[in-house]
Amino acid sequence: ISILPTDYTIRPLRRSDYKRGYLDVLRVLTTVGEISEDQWNQRYDWIASRNDEYYMLVVCDGQDNIVGTGSLIVERKFIHSLGMVGHIEDIAVEKNQQGKKLGLRIIQALDFVAEKVGCYKSILDCSEANEGFYVKCGFKRAGLEMAHYY
Ligand code: ACO
Repeated sequence: ISILPTDYTIRPLRRSDYKRGYLDVLRVLTTVGEISEDQWNQRYDWIASRNDEYYMLVVCDGQDNIVGTGSLIVERKFIHSLGMVGHIEDIAVEKNQQGKKLGLRIIQALDFVAEKVGCYKSILDCSEANEGFYVKCGFKRAGLEMAHYY
């Protein structure tokens, strides 16, 4: 298990994280858009009401700034005797905090939750450029991603 640097913490996302730079961390991943605090609160409450389905984690530095994040969404299936699959989504570490094993720690924490709640596997989509990172996290290439954008 990877250890966080001293003073760093990992914890579930909070409603007040809007003010702690959560959306800026996500901007290293993709476009986020302009999200008002009202819009944030609405979406946060929707997600928080599904607390056995959405597991969203943040890593904070010693000053309580958010420097990394990752999510696990637990999908309930009929197949495999009502099996559950973990979907790992939106892993992001602030640029000047990359390379400190924070990403690895986030994946390990999400993996732990997925196994604990009873998922038989966790899956994710990533670019070729990130394959090496996920291999180091214990994942292996499986299948092929396809997308239909609307
Ligand atoms: N290719 C190969 N190896 C890598 C890469 C990479 N792109 N990134 C990290 N590694 C290696 C590290 O060198 C380290 O190896 P080591 O244990 O031998 O020293 C190991 O993987 C763990 O690296 P971390 O320090 O934990 O990685 P970091 O904290 O920098 O996080 C991440 C990696 C999340 C990919 C980060 O660079 C990032 O936020 N990138 C921009 C956003 C992004 O692309 N996110 C992933 C999208 S895919 C998805 O969300 C499902």
